[in-house]
Amino acid sequence: MLIRRAPEIKSSGITDHRVYLSRRAFMAGAAALALAPVRRAVAAPASQVPAGQPLKATRNEAFAVEDPPTALESVTTYNNFYEFGVNKGDPARLAHTLRPRPWTVEVDGHVARPRRYDVDELMRLAPLEERVYRLRCVEGWSMVIPWIGYPLAELLKRVQPTGQARFVEFTTLLDPEQFPAQRPSFFGFSSLEWPYAEGLRLDEALHPLTLLTFGLYGQVLPNQNGAPVRVVVPWKYGFKSPKSIVRIRLVSEEPRTAWVKAAPNEYGFYSNVNPAVDHPRWSQATERRIGEFRRRKTLMFNGYADQVAPLYAGMDLRKHF
Ligand code: MTE
Repeated sequence: MLIRRAPEIKSSGITDHRVYLSRRAFMAGAAALALAPVRRAVAAPASQVPAGQPLKATRNEAFAVEDPPTALESVTTYNNFYEFGVNKGDPARLAHTLRPRPWTVEVDGHVARPRRYDVDELMRLAPLEERVYRLRCVEGWSMVIPWIGYPLAELLKRVQPTGQARFVEFTTLLDPEQFPAQRPSFFGFSSLEWPYAEGLRLDEALHPLTLLTFGLYGQVLPNQNGAPVRVVVPWKYGFKSPKSIVRIRLVSEEPRTAWVKAAPNEYGFYSNVNPAVDHPRWSQATERRIGEFRRRKTLMFNGYADQVAPLYAGMDLRKHF
């Protein structure tokens, strides 16, 4: 999904997933970053970071899947989190610089009751559920992960979206002190305009599958998986599940997301998992489940068609890819 291939990436380890950003777009992004105001989180002692701390949740069997979960070690060491670099091992190696407490999430835009939530308050807003979801990356690999969270709709209904709200925009923290790849001096390839931004249509955001996520495998989210809070949208490619979010904004226009800005011909706003629509540079018909040898067939909407297909009734999914 990025730019230029880092020399140490082995093609056996990952599927081709790079964006050939034009040099110009990259320079413009770097310049914008240099000028952008930086939101700095207040420093917290590393001892306060609840890494690996248990997080209680009630398993919701309605969202279990038959496939066995991917090993915790793979879930936490094979990551995409470009704020730490583009190699799969970078986030696990470098994410100790992220400080998930204190942390706030601003919920604003077209809502009757805008609010800034402390993340611990946010975590207690609704009962925490464990849900096992498939995660399919646009690069062609997949995992099965027991997440902990509650439906994003629980939060959205509390802030009361107004009639003008049609989309939801999510923004990841912008802080080059915590995210090395956000530094203009970062050596290597950085692919994206920061902060990372994603978006959903309001009805997608309100869908019961869309999970505001605080943990995995019975523990609080490890930093490399998007601590302290992220969104998980299991029927879309993994990049639609933004990590370490600080803002949720209800807007009337389709948000310009990080990957759409980077390569609009390769990554669409919808990015629903769809084996019939290939990426311009590779097939999406099959996937490699991490921990398995044989590729398996990719399922329409990542296997969630029964639940989500009606959201797209009448839409041309080749055009709105
Ligand atoms: N969110 C942010 N802020 N930055 C990222 O680089 N990568 C995305 C998504 N969310 C990304 C992000 C991609 S491409 C994938 S596949 C998933 O996170 C990976 O989530 P995981 O590392 O928890 O498996």
